[in-house]
Amino acid sequence: MAAAALSAAAFAEDTIKIGEYASLTGKEAAFGQSSHKGTLLAVEELNAAGGVLGRQIELVTEDDQTKQGESATIVKKLISREKVVGILGEVASMRSLEAAPICQAYRTPMISPSSTNPKVTEIGNYIFRVCFIDPFQGTVMAKFAKETLNLRRVALLTSVSSAYSVGLAKYFKERFVADGGEIVIEQKYTEGDKDFNAQLTAIKAAGVDGIFVPGYYTEAALICRQARELEMTMPLFGGDGWEAPELIAIGGSAVEGCYYSTHYSPQVDTPAVRAFVAKFQARFDGETPDAMAALGYDSAKVMVDAIRRAGSTDGPAIRDALAATKDFEGVTGSTTMDKNRNATKAAVVIMVKDGKFKFVQSVAP
Ligand code: PHE
Repeated sequence: MAAAALSAAAFAEDTIKIGEYASLTGKEAAFGQSSHKGTLLAVEELNAAGGVLGRQIELVTEDDQTKQGESATIVKKLISREKVVGILGEVASMRSLEAAPICQAYRTPMISPSSTNPKVTEIGNYIFRVCFIDPFQGTVMAKFAKETLNLRRVALLTSVSSAYSVGLAKYFKERFVADGGEIVIEQKYTEGDKDFNAQLTAIKAAGVDGIFVPGYYTEAALICRQARELEMTMPLFGGDGWEAPELIAIGGSAVEGCYYSTHYSPQVDTPAVRAFVAKFQARFDGETPDAMAALGYDSAKVMVDAIRRAGSTDGPAIRDALAATKDFEGVTGSTTMDKNRNATKAAVVIMVKDGKFKFVQSVAP
């Protein structure tokens, strides 16, 4: 113990510190743990290959416990106390929106691996992401609902306390209606709710042939269960917030035949994905990496590539290099930062089948 602490302290002297904030515990722990593993794997690989600018990289990780208010506090600490040169996080848009103004004020570049709400990078020119944004994801699911599932009359069930959910509902609706579909009824809930019977009863009475639930996995799984208990048999579908093993653990047979869109599937057979899955499984007890893990991995690689090109650990220099990121090949595709500091990437649609996530289709941007 003492020896380990001593060597860590000695090591800390000449490392380049990168901060990470994630929901490692609490309601959305599945997201944070997954992205953290991907990030950690990337940093370990980079260090094994010599680090960056002749120094080793030290990943300083803080747990925001999925709690409101916590992200801002820990990001402040990462910047002012730990002196990190860049920040990776958060998975969820609402927590990225909380911490991004701090990164912007301190001129510390931040990359969100997976926050898809457009507002996140609008906070300022130090805020980046390596994933697509929700206007695209909403379009993908609206087209899938209309063309593949043949749905015409859809209900929306939105989490009003989540910027991600509100945004995705809006973009889905715009596209679905523009394509001639009808949003027959809109119902709301709040993060952490457990009983959705009132909303589902209203939806049942309205008579719809599908329900779009742009929320996170815990509520999505409970909503599917309660819908089936009310003998509602229509498909339920959502976005990337559905992706966690808990969706199936909580939802059981009620999530069979449900769909969601996300950023990557381990079942897509490309050399980059195959290599990543093999390395991840070797490092983490055979666990198969999900989209958050893949995006966490890519976010760290993109940050370190920018530090290398900047030839410096100064915030403004790293920022400029990040803004110039072009054709960076990662696991989730190629990252080029557009003028709004967003990446453009393909989406995949996943289905729950026989208690497993099954790749359905890839949708190009
Ligand atoms: N896109 C979601 C958000 O912005 C977070 C998320 C990303 C969830 C990837 C699952 C997978 O809030």
